Amino acid sequence: MGMGIDHATFRAAMARFPGAVTIITARHGIERRGITATAVCSVSAEPPSLLVCVNRKTGTCAAIHESRTFNVSLLPDPASPLAMRFAGADGVTGEDKFAEGRWIEDGRGLPLLDEALIGFSCTVSEMVEAGSHTVFIGEIMEIRLNDGAPLVYEQSRFHRLEPL
Ligand SMILES: Cc1cc2nc3c(=O)[nH]c(=O)nc-3n(C[C@H](O)[C@H](O)[C@H](O)COP(=O)(O)O)c2cc1C
Repeated sequence: MGMGIDHATFRAAMARFPGAVTIITARHGIERRGITATAVCSVSAEPPSLLVCVNRKTGTCAAIHESRTFNVSLLPDPASPLAMRFAGADGVTGEDKFAEGRWIEDGRGLPLLDEALIGFSCTVSEMVEAGSHTVFIGEIMEIRLNDGAPLVYEQSRFHRLEPL
């Protein structure tokens, strides 16, 4: 790794970086795919776009690559069990992950979590291979909003936000 920064140092530093917890979803034919992800970031307002960083080993990456579409559901704070499930914690993969949670479809038939604080429907405009991950920049085609407090991840634990 560059400048002598080893894996453990990188991981320990990034673990302290608080992240809003999302589930990125896509469709591979009739099958749904999804992963828990904190690597989600606003890119630009003109056109409205965001980026996601997705491990190439995941079925979700393949599905986004094929379909050139993905959705992002921002999780409310009671959704930590669902976040663990979509991170693969129960050993559940692929379509089976969707057996928990109330899943609806956007106008294109892609999955969104009904209780997501924000549901983004995106079309891929750019892809960049970066190490183990693919960075997908997505133009935001639809936004769905719900009230509630977001789930936050830091130091390998889930947190809820509190005003100072
Ligand atoms: C809090 C949290 C954040 C994560 N963020 C990302 C991320 O931004 N990008 C990513 O590719 N994987 C991320 N992961 C790991 C994926 O969720 C995990 O590799 C994937 O769900 C494995 O799915 P599979 O078992 O179906 O292959 C994160 C996991 C957790 C617990």
